[in-house]
Amino acid sequence: MWKGRFQEKTSNRLQEYGQSVSYDWRLYRHDIQGSIAHAGALKKARILTDGECRKIVSGLRQIESAITRGDFTFTKELEDVHMNIESALTARIGAAGAKLHTARSRNDQVALDIRLYLRDAIAEIQKQARALQRSLVTLAGKNSDIAMPGYTHLQRAQPVPVAHHLLAYVEMLDRDFGRLADCAKRMDEMPLGSGAIAGSTIALDRVKIARDLGFSRITQNSMDAVSDRDFACELLAAIAIIGMHLSRLSEDVILWASAEFGFIYLSDAHTTGSSLMPQKKNPDIAELTRGKTGRLYGNLMSLLTTLKGLPLTYNRDMQEDKEPIFDSVDTIISALAIFAEMMGAASFHKNKLQQAVADPLLLATDLADYLVLKGVPFRKAHEIVGKLVAHSVKMETPLNELPLADYVKASDVFSKDVFAIFDVKKALEARKSIGATAPKFIRARIAHWKKKVR
Ligand code: ARG
Repeated sequence: MWKGRFQEKTSNRLQEYGQSVSYDWRLYRHDIQGSIAHAGALKKARILTDGECRKIVSGLRQIESAITRGDFTFTKELEDVHMNIESALTARIGAAGAKLHTARSRNDQVALDIRLYLRDAIAEIQKQARALQRSLVTLAGKNSDIAMPGYTHLQRAQPVPVAHHLLAYVEMLDRDFGRLADCAKRMDEMPLGSGAIAGSTIALDRVKIARDLGFSRITQNSMDAVSDRDFACELLAAIAIIGMHLSRLSEDVILWASAEFGFIYLSDAHTTGSSLMPQKKNPDIAELTRGKTGRLYGNLMSLLTTLKGLPLTYNRDMQEDKEPIFDSVDTIISALAIFAEMMGAASFHKNKLQQAVADPLLLATDLADYLVLKGVPFRKAHEIVGKLVAHSVKMETPLNELPLADYVKASDVFSKDVFAIFDVKKALEARKSIGATAPKFIRARIAHWKKKVR
């Protein structure tokens, strides 16, 4: 492509070192989509005749189907997907093909291709995020009346409906969805016409190209257009955050699936066994997802580091953007999809949950509130109940089974109605503010999500 300036052949080592086609071939559909729009603009600018433009478009379409069929050989001598396709086009249709790259550089071409690719990728990630939300909402719906211990510091804290815990992740995924949408909005700018750095002496109707490709704006600075990948950083950050959320869900699932908790049952189809220990049933999906989150963080850091300190405008370093981008997109799509499937097939162990949530210590706060409602200042009430808890531990007697005399000894405000406090259902119902555990509110929230994510 640049043989005019050079007398020597490119070193084989450089060819191997510099090629990107082994991974950027995946951009072929978007590359061809962009080239077709570019050809249209060249025709309008009278660089291409109607006939030449038609030949280019049909040649590109043929190449596209050949690649899709697996009937196309990419070669590393042609470095990247852009030059492979252009060269195949010229081989196929002759002189007209050699006109396609007029007023275009691979710098604006690749800036376009990545945007087109990421636009589709974002739509797919959003689709999978919705699928996981749906599966969590369905599971919440099936468990709207079952309570479990809620934890802070992984120590039993207060009872919560299972559905409340699951819906917490639905809220997170909804913000993730919004972050993806924000990212798509900022990415929605068409860079073609920027050339290598300074635009082109051949005026293209950039607005038309943008319209043809479904962009709502065009980039306004050719130097910015070919040099920044901030939109990709933003997406990798959004993906890293989704990974962070999924890794927390993973950890909950891993704990819940252990014999120590025994809260959740994962289907055989979504667990694996051990080659040695016959009894094992391992939550690999959750573990892998927790593990892959590290890769997602790494990809973000890798891209930020690649871009850091690069002088304007395009530098070859930027070719290093593709692998982390592809890897994060692929990883998060499969993680969301498999999680949706796994949670869809999971169920909760009612008995185990009932046993766990029957721990009277989960209602120690309610006991303090009982005193508060009888006029005891909260700090004082906290101390009284704390002493009762210590006493119950020492006596190896559950809090709700201590004799009334022990209560009265701790505070004469207690009377025998205190034992009514140890009722999980009432405790959930008593938390009536928006966002809290009252079953009525949880049911409304399930209905809200069912509508939103269906
Ligand atoms: N394969 C290159 C990349 O992904 C395309 C742009 C190459 N531009 C250049 N001037 N060498 O970054």
